[in-house]
Amino acid sequence: MKGACILAWLFSSLGVWRLTQSEVQDASQCQRAEHPVISYKEIGPWLREFRAKNAVDFSRLIFDPGQKELVAGARNYLFRLRLEDLSLIQAVEWGCDEATKKACYSKGKSKEECQNYIRVLLVGGDRLFTCGTNAFTPVCTNRSLSNLTEVHDQISGMARCPYSPQHNSTALLTASGELYAATAMDFPGRDPAIYRSLGSLPPLRTAQYNSKWLNEPNFVSSYDIGNFTYFFFRENAVEQDCGKTVFSRAARVCKNDIGGRFLLEDTWTTFMKARLNCSRPGEVPFYYNELQSTFFLPELDLLYGIFTTNVNSIAASAVCVFNLSAISQAFNGPFKYQENSRSAWLPYPNPNPNFQCGTVDQGLYINLTERNLQDAQKFILMHEVVQPVTQVPSFMEDNSRFSHVAVDVVQGRDSLIHIVYLATGRSSLFTVISDWFRSSALNNLFLRKGCGHV
Ligand SMILES: *[C@@H]1O[C@H](CO)[C@@H](O)[C@H](O)[C@H]1NC(C)=O
Ligand SMILES: *[C@@H]1O[C@H](CO)[C@@H](O)[C@H](O)[C@H]1NC(C)=O
Ligand SMILES: *[C@@H]1O[C@H](CO)[C@@H](O)[C@H](O)[C@H]1NC(C)=O
Ligand SMILES: *[C@@H]1O[C@H](CO)[C@@H](O)[C@H](O)[C@H]1NC(C)=O
Ligand SMILES: *[C@@H]1O[C@H](CO)[C@@H](O)[C@H](O)[C@H]1NC(C)=O
Ligand SMILES: *[C@@H]1O[C@H](CO)[C@@H](O)[C@H](O)[C@H]1NC(C)=O
Ligand SMILES: *[C@@H]1O[C@H](CO)[C@@H](O)[C@H](O)[C@H]1NC(C)=O
Repeated sequence: MKGACILAWLFSSLGVWRLTQSEVQDASQCQRAEHPVISYKEIGPWLREFRAKNAVDFSRLIFDPGQKELVAGARNYLFRLRLEDLSLIQAVEWGCDEATKKACYSKGKSKEECQNYIRVLLVGGDRLFTCGTNAFTPVCTNRSLSNLTEVHDQISGMARCPYSPQHNSTALLTASGELYAATAMDFPGRDPAIYRSLGSLPPLRTAQYNSKWLNEPNFVSSYDIGNFTYFFFRENAVEQDCGKTVFSRAARVCKNDIGGRFLLEDTWTTFMKARLNCSRPGEVPFYYNELQSTFFLPELDLLYGIFTTNVNSIAASAVCVFNLSAISQAFNGPFKYQENSRSAWLPYPNPNPNFQCGTVDQGLYINLTERNLQDAQKFILMHEVVQPVTQVPSFMEDNSRFSHVAVDVVQGRDSLIHIVYLATGRSSLFTVISDWFRSSALNNLFLRKGCGHV
């Protein structure tokens, strides 16, 4: 949790510079097994850094709608920076009060844990919605983006932000003002959920204490795409009966889901999930089962993901790319269903293979979601596994555990070139940068260039 107290920035000129350096001139380069690598030192001249005294755990970043400013969340601090050069515009301290800290210590938590770790940082119009762990008493505030000390609203962070700084979570805000959060809902972290709140639609969650819905998940990312919100995470595989195995998942819900009646009350009726396959092909495929980070390219409907091996096995990482159509296709296919805890998981035909989200204007509670409630309760997991765009991962490396990915698409001579930035390191962060350049900025930085084309 200590570590990086530095925010770094890469100039867009780096991308252009590299492209003109004849190293990555055309798509044929991308077929090379060995991708060109740039070290942290080499990019030094194109790197901008931001440090602040006492600020550690830079964990979340967001841009203002005009993409001129960057807001960063660190432990007990929010910073507003100029995108151009990472110079400071405003620093706001947001710590916990003494009483909250005392209560936290009395529950056996350490001084390190009883702090305010920013875990939700979202922009809606001219507002910044942000939540912090607040010494295991999560809290959210609604602030003016143009003046972060101007707090309009303070609400409970429960079900919106984790209690513990160790718990991995993700959240998004839709244009209509709903907050979707995937996080542990309780102090010990035994009740994970994908939860919708705020806005005008009824609050909904995934079924509680039901391992078929979520089984000790580590949430990674979430995206608002079309009629759905998508969630990416890793979790213990319920469908695997021998030993504990972690699988990576894509899950989705309809944004206009209003929950069931009698059955699935206050619960999603449209929740489904599918396994993501990232593996090295072979007689026995070598699986990179654990999703760590994703980067979505909405204009291409492609999702880049970093997958690693389990922490207890040899370190290895891979980058796999999934297209949205392959993910949707899995959701239209059969389900994997287990009749009872002793029976096998078997494919079960999808009762509604042309599933649509339904329309809200038909009026509340009338066919809002087209899934039969009994089916919605029974069928959660898809039978088909989502396969990546290429059988062989786009990039693989042994003895490394990458933690962040960012992708920039640039116009090459005769095709689009995808520049992939990968980084190791945890308590660090990852920046997404305006039109041309998206970069990752981290401690312990390994910067690598891989490419692929469409
Ligand atoms: C923030 O406050 C504004 C104005 O009070 C409100 O319109 C908006 O819905 C709030 N946003 C959130 C996410 O609470
Ligand atoms: C920001 O908001 C605070 C609290 O409302 C106020 O005291 C301060 O003057 C504002 N700063 C600017 C630059 O407007
Ligand atoms: C959160 O994710 C990180 C990185 O994969 C991992 O090291 C950590 O153990 C996860 N936290 C929990 C509570 O599992
Ligand atoms: C995952 O992909 C590999 C390589 O294409 C393939 O051999 C394997 O069967 C796939 N596994 C699953 C579960 O789909
Ligand atoms: C969203 O759902 C509506 C109603 O089912 C449908 O008409 C529309 O095509 C869907 N939009 C997308 C992008 O799939
Ligand atoms: C709701 O769905 C049922 C069965 O699919 C259909 O018969 C009925 O006409 C639908 N009602 C509305 C208002 O669309
Ligand atoms: C999406 O990926 C699948 C493989 O998973 C592939 O068959 C399909 O052609 C891809 N579609 C696009 C538009 O790239």
